[in-house]
Amino acid sequence: MQLTREAVERGVVPATRRGRGRGRWRAPALCSVAALGLVVVAGCSTATTTGAATPAPRGASSAGARVTEAAPAARDSAAARGVAAAERIAAMLGPAASQGPAQDTARREAFIDSLLSQMTLEEKLGQLNQPPGQWGDTGPVVSKGGEADVRAGHAGSFLGVYGAAYTRRLQQAAGESRLHVPLLFGYDVIHGFRTIFPVPLAEASSWDPATVERSARIAATEASAWGVTWTFAPMVDIARDPRWGRIVEGSGEDPYLGSMMAAAKVRGFQGDDLAANNTLMATAKHFAAYGAAEGGRDYNTAEVSNRTLHAIYLPPFHAAVMEGVGSVMAGFDEVAGVPMHANGPLINGVLRHDWGFHGLVVSDYTGIMELQRHGVAGTPEQAGILGLKAGVDIDMVSGIYLKDLPAAVDSGLLPVRDVDRAVKRVLRAKWDLGLFQDPYRYSDAAREKARTLTPADLQAAREEARESMVLLKNDSVLPLRKDLGTIAVIGSLADDSLSCLGPWHGAGEAKDAVTILEGIRQAVSPGTKVIYAKGVTPVLGGTDTTGFPAAMKAVRQADAVVLVVGETQDMSGEAASRADIDLPGVQLALAKQIIATGKPVVVVLMNGRPLATPWLAEHAPAILEAWFLGVQMGPAVADVVFGDANPSGKLPVTVPRAVGQIPIYYDHKNTGRPPNPNDHYTSKYLHLPWTPLYPFGYGLSYTTFEVGAPRLSSATMRPGDTLTVSVDVTNTGKRAGTEVVQLYLHDEVRSVTPPVKELRGFQRVQLDPGQTKTVSFPITVDDLAFWGLANRWIYEPGWFTVFVGSSSVDVKSARFDLLEGSGS
Ligand code: NOJ
Repeated sequence: MQLTREAVERGVVPATRRGRGRGRWRAPALCSVAALGLVVVAGCSTATTTGAATPAPRGASSAGARVTEAAPAARDSAAARGVAAAERIAAMLGPAASQGPAQDTARREAFIDSLLSQMTLEEKLGQLNQPPGQWGDTGPVVSKGGEADVRAGHAGSFLGVYGAAYTRRLQQAAGESRLHVPLLFGYDVIHGFRTIFPVPLAEASSWDPATVERSARIAATEASAWGVTWTFAPMVDIARDPRWGRIVEGSGEDPYLGSMMAAAKVRGFQGDDLAANNTLMATAKHFAAYGAAEGGRDYNTAEVSNRTLHAIYLPPFHAAVMEGVGSVMAGFDEVAGVPMHANGPLINGVLRHDWGFHGLVVSDYTGIMELQRHGVAGTPEQAGILGLKAGVDIDMVSGIYLKDLPAAVDSGLLPVRDVDRAVKRVLRAKWDLGLFQDPYRYSDAAREKARTLTPADLQAAREEARESMVLLKNDSVLPLRKDLGTIAVIGSLADDSLSCLGPWHGAGEAKDAVTILEGIRQAVSPGTKVIYAKGVTPVLGGTDTTGFPAAMKAVRQADAVVLVVGETQDMSGEAASRADIDLPGVQLALAKQIIATGKPVVVVLMNGRPLATPWLAEHAPAILEAWFLGVQMGPAVADVVFGDANPSGKLPVTVPRAVGQIPIYYDHKNTGRPPNPNDHYTSKYLHLPWTPLYPFGYGLSYTTFEVGAPRLSSATMRPGDTLTVSVDVTNTGKRAGTEVVQLYLHDEVRSVTPPVKELRGFQRVQLDPGQTKTVSFPITVDDLAFWGLANRWIYEPGWFTVFVGSSSVDVKSARFDLLEGSGS
């Protein structure tokens, strides 16, 4: 279907648009520009991009009648109330059977128009109001008076409320409101609901979109059984500053890998049918450039150029939109002086108009209210007007839309049409989720019981956790034998079940997590003794060494040592930025003592951000980056430590040597004076190498691989052609293993400085010892595009270098020429 500007403005886009992306890398509205601005190929969008005016509201719409109808008289029972509401809705819905996408869309729009026409202004604004839940005696509940608000039509959704019985009760209350509009229940199902999977940064380390899709699918199945209809995930913010604690919630530094993960998560959460009772509406967040927080300080200003915004920070959002994501959350940041909650050019302009996003935009927590603190609104009313006009449909927590916008509409400052547009988006989401047909479809106590922490889901969590670890170093220490006489496990993190879950673990409970200590105990041979000594606890600025003697005693008795160091779960995540990224406290001091014994020491890192650990990199015999791996962390770590699983993860982010190198990322520019150790006047540091500790895409295996030189199907290609890059990968070691073959491209000369290389493909290849497989990567002009001088995606003819290899630095190359004209 061709999207017209009007269709986008009206938001009338069929739900069948979901799933268009299917994980392909696509430059939005790609144009060919042979020389700047000269050639624009047919079909190229002429839509403006950043800076596009917010589509102006056209036509008049009458303000909803300010009728406050008395609540319906109390009926006999909750059941009777529910039935009455269902009957009323059913009458409005008409025949239930699907009559095809176009008819379904027409039916939905007719229903919504009819519903909207019956709404008072308060009821409309109620749909845009999202109060938070709070913790009650047995679980999350709405605040005092919340149920009355629902009956009065003053809440359209809740944040952080779940539970089959409780959400059912709230839907019943909604059924008692004048128009019986069902509720949405939004929750942060980030990497699992109760069955907690690896944190997203770890999931991205798997470079396995299929496994990431599966974890999101399981999370959706579990959460939806608990009444949740909407997840505030995936977090698709590109993060290039490991000081920023929220780097743990995303897929790292790269827009391509981030886009693949974003699309996989959206597919997993939303499935093929949003109305199914085991799918959730997903949210791509935080739009946009929230990960560019200056100084890595959370909530801080994002100072990025328009080009960096489009080339680096926006692509994962675009991928999520292409995949049909149902909602987008605005970021707490500001871009170029405009807070994202008031950023009409980016929300209404780029997201909605240019990309054709037709779903909901939700504010972040009190994001509307914070427009006052940003200094662009003097009153709550002005903040509300700014937010709604910018395209933020739902006001999470501030309560400003509900309380302060009636006056703005009355005074004419806010056209009711703006309100109507947002309300329609909310109602469409409710329709698409199937809530008008059955508001209780997600609130099923039997399913809740049956679908929680199932053995199959736990097994899936263990499998993903194995894939998510990155082996950083191995001087022939790993894997350990299971039948060693004594193994010492050192470090409080080894026995920290809460930290296994990471900083944002939904409804996950520490008691469900199996720690590394427990995993090792379960895995070793019956005759093997496992001695545990806490030794050291990660504390920022900590100096407590009282546990060292006991730890050293255990080490001296051991045949091998598993030393678990890093960060506790609360040291990353929201509002958990660090100014240093080293091992907190005295962990390194203990590590030095232990490694000095000369015993085989395996350092397992548990952390939510890349840690700068140059001393360990040089001196530790083996280092396994484990991040936070979820409920099955312990068994998965044991699987890798003892060789039942061969590590295959690769870093989704560059690991610096020191905090002073930040920002450091692989797709940097060459500069006019690229680093040269023999030339003083080149781009480097006086006292430290300019290279990272570990590069993007890096990760070892227990076997070895040879990635051959790339072979090209042709030395030239034209727009429209697909050039195929083939490469042979051989397992040259003695164990079966999986290599992640990576493809990077470099545009040699173009009108805007090119990065030294950019990821444009990857494949996991499983190989037995001695086995060779040929991997192919298709390349189209989408892969060659960049954000040009005229502020649009373009490609330019000329020479390109293809790199293939096992990391961003371990590569072999070939060249091809992109010719002008159009191909076959
Ligand atoms: C604030 C966070 O920034 C956002 O990611 C989250 O979804 C909301 N709080 C709701 O919990």
